[in-house]
Amino acid sequence: MTKPSPLSDPGIVADPYPVYARLARREPVHWDEGLNAWAVMKYADCAAALKDPRLKAERMEEVLEVKFPGEPLPPDDIYHRFTKNVMMYTDPPLHDALRRSTQSGFTRAAHEHYGQVIERVAADLVASVPGGTREIDAVAAFAAELPVRSAVSAFGVPEEDLAFVIPCVETLMTYWSGPQDQPVELGRLLELLTDLHTYALELIEGERGKVLPDTVIARLAAAQDGLTETTPEQTVHQLVLLFIALFAPTTPGSLSSGMLSFARNPDQIARFLAEPACVENTANEVFRHNASNQFTWRVATTDLDVGGVRIGKGQSLALFLGAANRDSEVFERPDVFDLGRPNSARHLSFGQGVHACLGRQIAGLQLKWFFVALLRRFPAVRPAGEPVWNQNLEFRSLRSLPLSLR
Ligand code: HEM
Repeated sequence: MTKPSPLSDPGIVADPYPVYARLARREPVHWDEGLNAWAVMKYADCAAALKDPRLKAERMEEVLEVKFPGEPLPPDDIYHRFTKNVMMYTDPPLHDALRRSTQSGFTRAAHEHYGQVIERVAADLVASVPGGTREIDAVAAFAAELPVRSAVSAFGVPEEDLAFVIPCVETLMTYWSGPQDQPVELGRLLELLTDLHTYALELIEGERGKVLPDTVIARLAAAQDGLTETTPEQTVHQLVLLFIALFAPTTPGSLSSGMLSFARNPDQIARFLAEPACVENTANEVFRHNASNQFTWRVATTDLDVGGVRIGKGQSLALFLGAANRDSEVFERPDVFDLGRPNSARHLSFGQGVHACLGRQIAGLQLKWFFVALLRRFPAVRPAGEPVWNQNLEFRSLRSLPLSLR
């Protein structure tokens, strides 16, 4: 019997980095039975794989078979219509057309506006903590809250619809989080996916709550009639994907791990407050230090070599972005949280190449303006108890983070 991979041990989620470092030294491309994939640990191999056209992102049919064996779905099922028509799970040229169909929401001018909105939202959130508060659970108070407020103000999700969208995405995410057992039945997942599509269609047609002007959704809705490469159904699929990405645990994961990194490194708070260049580098160093999406997936379309290991056609790769970010061949003293690091921006936390995260600038704006507000008001944040991590290495994030604010 082969030994189980150390990556399958849920006990490593709190600190997977020693395991990554050991694997990177001994077996940088390592077969993981639990993931049913080659786990790729080195920066150079992950970066090359993300740009390699022989590795495809389209893989959701295989995932369905693994999660729900013997329950195939007809080709016109919502599952296939969705996964075969969203940028995340398609490959060029279809991928590129789908991605281009959303570009009106992600222009430079749009991001300038989102930056101003997010700066205000972050300041209001931190200001809402009552004076005299000594201790706080920083996940509930800040990390879970800021992405939701930004989703309303910068993204345009009507506030009155949050009570529907958030639980819907939380349940769907049980499927989208790779290797975990599947706690929700397929029928229920398909129902929710259908509901989210109905909602997205009604929203874009102006039949739901009020979408704020100048937001991502308002821009996408306004640009819809001018799209020539894609269909109205595909616009709805992209919007559903954006909802899932928006309410996934990634942005909360980065906000909370960043707070933990600062609380444990008061010297970096001092630098943040004294050096404007460090403020500008904060989001990148937080993303590098702890990737909230620790690995992403590709499937080999042909036999090929990765890091000197032969990968067979049809086999999956789990690209460990979180391990690449701690590769000492790229980042000096990689475990140190250092705002003065010259190359933090080289992190792979948002992937690279054609699938590089569409929301990376919005996530970066949230981190920047949140830490500006937090550390100006509470420059003495320190840990006030043990942080509690979730059990999901793929979407690694904190469940609770007790912080002292004094
Ligand atoms: C800290 C927060 C976030 C992290 C760590 C993150 C991470 C990632 C990663 C690693 C990928 C690439 C996946 C791959 O290559 O297989 C990705 C893609 C994507 N992300 Fe994010 N993401 C974050 C926030 C967001 C937000 C807020 C949005 C909403 C706009 C978003 C929308 C997307 C989309 C649409 C893609 C697919 C892009 C494509 O396939 O062309 N992400 N994200």
